[in-house]
Amino acid sequence: MTLPFALARRFVAGQTLEAALPALDPLLDDGLFITLDLLGEHVHDRGRATGFARAYSDLIERLASHRDDRGAAPEAVGISIKLSMIGQVIDRDLCEENLRAVLTQARDADLFVRLDMEGTDVTQSTLDLFEAVYPDFPDHVGTVLQAYLHRTAGDTARMCDLDARVRLCKGAYKEPSSIAYQDMPTVRWHYRQHAKKLLTDGRYPGIATHDDQLIDAVRQFVDDRGIDRDGFEFQMLYGLRPDTQRQLVEDGYRMRVYVPYGTEWLPYFSRRIRERKENALFVVKALVRG
Ligand code: FDA
Repeated sequence: MTLPFALARRFVAGQTLEAALPALDPLLDDGLFITLDLLGEHVHDRGRATGFARAYSDLIERLASHRDDRGAAPEAVGISIKLSMIGQVIDRDLCEENLRAVLTQARDADLFVRLDMEGTDVTQSTLDLFEAVYPDFPDHVGTVLQAYLHRTAGDTARMCDLDARVRLCKGAYKEPSSIAYQDMPTVRWHYRQHAKKLLTDGRYPGIATHDDQLIDAVRQFVDDRGIDRDGFEFQMLYGLRPDTQRQLVEDGYRMRVYVPYGTEWLPYFSRRIRERKENALFVVKALVRG
């Protein structure tokens, strides 16, 4: 069955950049930061991988010019990319070459690039590629760590040693219990430990979650420690908890919204549906409404 894009519209800003750009302005007007994500996953063809790297560079140029036209601060606008779209699962050297081209464009435009983290088939390779390029682009690239993975305490410590920017999330992929915690209380416990480490010893961490238990724990921790509210940011996904996003900004926190767009929206959309029954209900209601 081919699902119509209308069902995904709440979570995906548009199928083209032209369609997605207007969704950014109300967010920026409300004091939210954004990271734009061109949707897609594992690419197995060299030509397509290099094509996506060019598309990322093009996106950076156009987004930076949109940002500058609106007079937004450089840190208010960034992009998130997936290495598996630019050659990671084909040839490491091709991927690094493509990544360097994207980051060179990002440095020229003073725009931050986040390397999203995918499944555990590419975790080590993502961190290796990150470490390979990071010394040349220390202010324009960061990565993501997933609290559900057993390995993440070590990776968190390593990123703090490197003084690298990390987004911390729970993790969205189905992973076996030999490498990933499966139950929510345990994942939350580890999330809190990693968040505290990043907030104390890391560089401008991104606290990516919609979970009030974690948000409240972070708020309490930074208050207790007297950590500057400009020293980190909360992050949420486009279309999820928009009122909470704005409330956090009103409360004096930085909040970045992850805005996906593109024609390859189905895997991203499916993850959001699997994650929460409210998201699935929203889609069922839209189907019934026709
Ligand atoms: P989760 O879905 O676990 O829900 C926990 C609780 O939070 C709920 O019981 C409820 O109380 C509250 N809640 C959640 N959603 C709500 C809603 N819509 N309304 C009201 N309450 C709600 N993953 C990955 O593997 N790699 C990556 O690179 C990224 N990147 C990323 C960026 C950003 C900005 C975000 C926010 C998330 C990611 N993720 C990700 C996804 C992440 O790993 C995770 O799958 C989702 O954020 C879901 O986990 P949460 O902690 O947000 O809430």
